[in-house]
This record gives sequence, structure tokens and C-alpha cells, in this order.
Amino acid sequence: MFDAKARYVRSLFSGVPIEYDILLGLLTFAQDRRWRAYVVQRARPPNNEPILDVATGTGLLAADFARSISLLGYVVGVDLTLSMLKTARSRLRSKQFGTKVDWVLARAENLPFRDESFGAASISLALRNVSDVQKTLAEMSRTTGSGGIVISLDFARPTNGLFRIFYYDYLLGLFPLFGRMVSEAWGRTLTYLGRSILKARTGDQIANLLSSEGLLDAKSVPLTAGIVCAVYGTKQ
Ligand SMILES: C[S@@+](CC[C@H](N)C(=O)[O-])C[C@H]1O[C@@H](n2cnc3c(N)ncnc32)[C@H](O)[C@@H]1O
Repeated sequence: MFDAKARYVRSLFSGVPIEYDILLGLLTFAQDRRWRAYVVQRARPPNNEPILDVATGTGLLAADFARSISLLGYVVGVDLTLSMLKTARSRLRSKQFGTKVDWVLARAENLPFRDESFGAASISLALRNVSDVQKTLAEMSRTTGSGGIVISLDFARPTNGLFRIFYYDYLLGLFPLFGRMVSEAWGRTLTYLGRSILKARTGDQIANLLSSEGLLDAKSVPLTAGIVCAVYGTKQ
């Protein structure tokens, strides 16, 4: 069942998969690679246990995980937007590590996996987009085995006041303008993105949600002047 937000988010992302990777790199000045590298280094399980990437989109983080694990490991990327998953699959098909990733069309709030199926679960640049944040984190925790990391990487609001002024101008002014220059779909998506970042939970709030799911040592780590936060905890 899709609620209004899930339908809206799916319609937004249905129109943008082809250019997604390039635009993400441009708009973040290629910092997105560094952020994903941090997530991989933090969350990769030690013994080839499978990894779950929720709201995987075009599979950028799933691919980075797949590249970094041995032949015995594998990654499952889940998303509710079919065109994003199709782009992910065709992009990775030509890569050597592409066979280490499976793609599943499903909602983050209702993951079709047994308890403790994975050695780690990630969600990147997408917790703001899901309809039910608490349920998503609960599902990620349920499907992660003991000792595994549950991690969210997402845009946040920088703490430095002066920087925040420039950043908000960039988010609410340049972002949508740039998007409209590419296509109407990108104009809509980047307008939504900017507004959703302003309303996003702080890293500490997400860490509290992880703790309330029973995860241990939940903490929020700001990256790139707090533009994004990596928030993670360990399954008991
Ligand atoms: C901004 S993209 C992020 C993609 C990727 N994780 C990344 O880091 O580039 C957001 C993705 O979240 C997906 N999404 C949003 N809500 C979802 C939900 N409730 N369940 C599964 N996927 C969802 C969208 O379809 C979209 O592909």
C-alpha cells in the first residue's frame, strides 16, 4: 500500500534516474563519494555477511559496498521506484562486482526479509524521503543481525551560522534554478530536496530514534561542515 508521500516521492524520483549520479556529484562538489566511503568503512561487516542498502536509488552506495567486499559477500539494494532500480541494475551489469548485488522493489517501512538476515543495513540521502522514519529504522534494525551496524547518511543543517546563510541560499535558490535548467522533473526534485533538508531531523534526533530501537552506542557524526550527518548504532 502506498500512502500519499510514497506516491509523491516515487513520482519525483521516477523522472530523474538517468542523470542522478552526475547531478549528485556536481551539486555536492563530489563530496558524496567521500560520504559513502565513510559509511562503507563504518558499516562493512567483518565476515562477509550480506549488506542491506535501503532506498538504494541508482545503487551508488550498494556499488561501493559491493566493490569493497570479498567474492563471498553480497549486497541487496531496496527501493520503491522501479526506474531507479532499473538504472542501478544496468549501471552495475557491466561492472565486475555487479553480480554481488541483488535489487528488490519494496518499501523501507516493510522490508521483505527475515529477522537478522544482514550483517549491516544502510540508508543514504533518503531517510527524509520515507513516509515513516521510525518504522524504517525499526525494519533496518529487525533485519540486521547481532553486532551489525545500522547507519543513516543524510543531509542536515550546518551548525555554523554564517555558512548556513550561504548554504540555505544555495539550497533554496541555486539548487532549484539549476534543476530547472536540466529539466522540469529535476526542477521539482531539487525544490523538494531543498525544502526537505530544512525540515529534516537533526543527527542527534536520529541517533535518539536509533537508541529507541534498542541499538547500542548510537551517535551522529557531522561530515563536510555538517552538510550531512552519518548516524549509526550497533544491533545488540
Ligand atoms: C535521493 S535518492 C537516494 C538514493 C541513494 N540512496 C543515494 O545515496 O544516492 C532517494 C531514494 O529513496 C527512495 N525512497 C523514498 N522513499 C522510500 C521508501 N519509503 N521505501 C523505499 N525507497 C524509498 C526513492 O525512490 C529514491 O530512489
